[in-house]
Amino acid sequence: MSSEDGEEVFDVLSEGEEVFAPPESFKEQANAGAELYEIENYQEYWAKEAEKLDWFEKWDQTLRWEPPFAQWFVGGKINASYNCLDRHLDSFRKNKAALIWEGEPGDERVLTYNDLHRKVCKFATVLKNQGVQKGDIVTIYLPMIPEAVIAMLACARIGAPHSVVFAGFGPGSLAQRIENADSSFLITADGYYRRGRLIHHKNKSDQALEQTDKVEQCVVVERCGLDVTMNRDRDYWWKDLMSEVKCETPAVKLDSEDLLFLMYTSGTTGKPKGVVHTIGGYMTHVTSTSKYVFDLKEDDTYWCSADVGWITGHSYIVYGILSNGATAVMYEGAPDYPDNNRTWEIIEKYGVNIFYTAPTAIRSFMKHGKKYPQSHNLNSLRLLGSVGEPINPKVWKWYHKNVGNENCPIVDTWWQTETGGIMLSPLPGVIKTRPGSVTRPLPGISAEVLDEEGEPADSGYLAITKPWPGMLRTVYQNDERYKKTYWSKWDDETYFPADGAKIDEDGYFWILGRIDDVINVSGHRLSTMEIESSLVSHSDVAEAAVVGGSDDLKGQVPVAYVMLQEEAENDKLNNGEDEELDFFNADLEEELKDYVAEDIGAIARPRDVTFVPDLPKTRSGKIMRRLLQDITEEEELSDTTTLKNPEIAEKIQDIYC
Ligand code: WT7
Repeated sequence: MSSEDGEEVFDVLSEGEEVFAPPESFKEQANAGAELYEIENYQEYWAKEAEKLDWFEKWDQTLRWEPPFAQWFVGGKINASYNCLDRHLDSFRKNKAALIWEGEPGDERVLTYNDLHRKVCKFATVLKNQGVQKGDIVTIYLPMIPEAVIAMLACARIGAPHSVVFAGFGPGSLAQRIENADSSFLITADGYYRRGRLIHHKNKSDQALEQTDKVEQCVVVERCGLDVTMNRDRDYWWKDLMSEVKCETPAVKLDSEDLLFLMYTSGTTGKPKGVVHTIGGYMTHVTSTSKYVFDLKEDDTYWCSADVGWITGHSYIVYGILSNGATAVMYEGAPDYPDNNRTWEIIEKYGVNIFYTAPTAIRSFMKHGKKYPQSHNLNSLRLLGSVGEPINPKVWKWYHKNVGNENCPIVDTWWQTETGGIMLSPLPGVIKTRPGSVTRPLPGISAEVLDEEGEPADSGYLAITKPWPGMLRTVYQNDERYKKTYWSKWDDETYFPADGAKIDEDGYFWILGRIDDVINVSGHRLSTMEIESSLVSHSDVAEAAVVGGSDDLKGQVPVAYVMLQEEAENDKLNNGEDEELDFFNADLEEELKDYVAEDIGAIARPRDVTFVPDLPKTRSGKIMRRLLQDITEEEELSDTTTLKNPEIAEKIQDIYC
């Protein structure tokens, strides 16, 4: 697949409707070149990438690998806050915008690198004054406001690892994370705006603090001027503490392997795991991938629509983007508030060049219709990204055409909270893309598709076969769980991400989704994603979720839940008097079953197709198939508290039964 001169690497794919070559103009100016695919020694490659950061002292050893425990850039001294801020100050970047922030009501704040540096230094002083020491875990429970970034970088500056908890989580989740991290310091806000509503955030924090007594001090950012109850022995206003201090705290020399942050993520068991990331390797991974995957240039304005409370926000709003000295847009609110124009208005207003979002968002843009993006000037866009779940070809093509004007490469990036940064993705400008494929592992990353026994297969499990710098170091205070979850499926040198994957004859990877979503029909493995993708390619379908229903003969059979396009919903579903029949159309049901059977094969034919007004989704937008599984199996509904739309579960249950 690779060749002496590298040409073939981006020329392996035959031309055709489903192959998209990068525009010539993009190729000419791309940060990445074909030679990146020709790496011989992954450790040398990453060492070279690490040199792009500023180190106080260089490392003695690139990698110490005692499977499955890794240390990168051993002996190196570094500070992430320094790399995101201080090192930009002695150039013209000093007064360049680091963050362009927009609140949901339309208020704006622009922070230059110099502004951000001053605020971070001051807040680092506050943390020290309040007694926070190196190694103390600080919990940050803030909405999408600049103070979230300031607090993260201030922690990084003094070596206090942060644990950011997504603001959309409730008090129980917050308390659980505080307890697990043994965190005595909390940063929160009075409130924030979401879909035009004022969310009383401090109340949620207070409720959490009734469930744990770990927190000794709580700093409150004033975002909305809400009337909040302050506990005199525990609570401080951010602005009061900031007004008393000078901008004087230097970035401390930290060890490459010191903790940078914890990020809690859910696993197969109910209890979230604290994924541990350390400084040197993580910073190397996210800085390098930001530059090559997003093709970040000095004059780019970059917008990632994720929340800083997730890994995507950590790596690709904060650390990777700011260490490259780029300008990031940060938006507080909902993408469709006050109406479906908002996302496109933001792109137009700030002249966004690079837009990184999730398939779930693209599907909802698609559902609303192309008239919204088309009525805005989106010519500034030059690169589009996708992350979080498989993007099916129909959605990919819609994004390419209606947002990218057929002129922007799309980077479909596969990675996880645990991997720290992007692992598989096209190198834009270098390689041809195919809708639905993440193409190939990035330079320096070794990935394969393996079967149950660990043998290479065309279809099986995704596996990462060499350590990489951004990898999680362990599960916080739980090495056993780390080993068991990630390094025991085959051997302790092969990482198991729990995603199914296929590899085609061109060496392109196709992620099939979490293996928990794979079903077995009469001994044949089928990806629920594949069936969903097929359903979604039908012109009446907006979104679909497929789960496995038990079947005495076949083991499992596909069961589909389908949301129709607005128009089809109005035309084809009964919206009359009889509420019970509201989501029923026997003909269309049969039509969709036949459609899938023809598209994939009879084996994939859904037993049932149920029309639903919405699908149960987590706050990060993932369809919660487990709930649909419960409904299908007529079991009691499992926990719905992490749903964005908890009320939908029972509604679907009614329709299904
Ligand atoms: C899981 C990780 C990493 C940022 C957000 C999610 C799925 C992620 C893709 C993609 C297909 C993807 C995988 C993975 N996933 N990106 N481009 N194509 N699937 O982080 O919450 O840790 O979830 O998201 O199933 O295992 P996360």
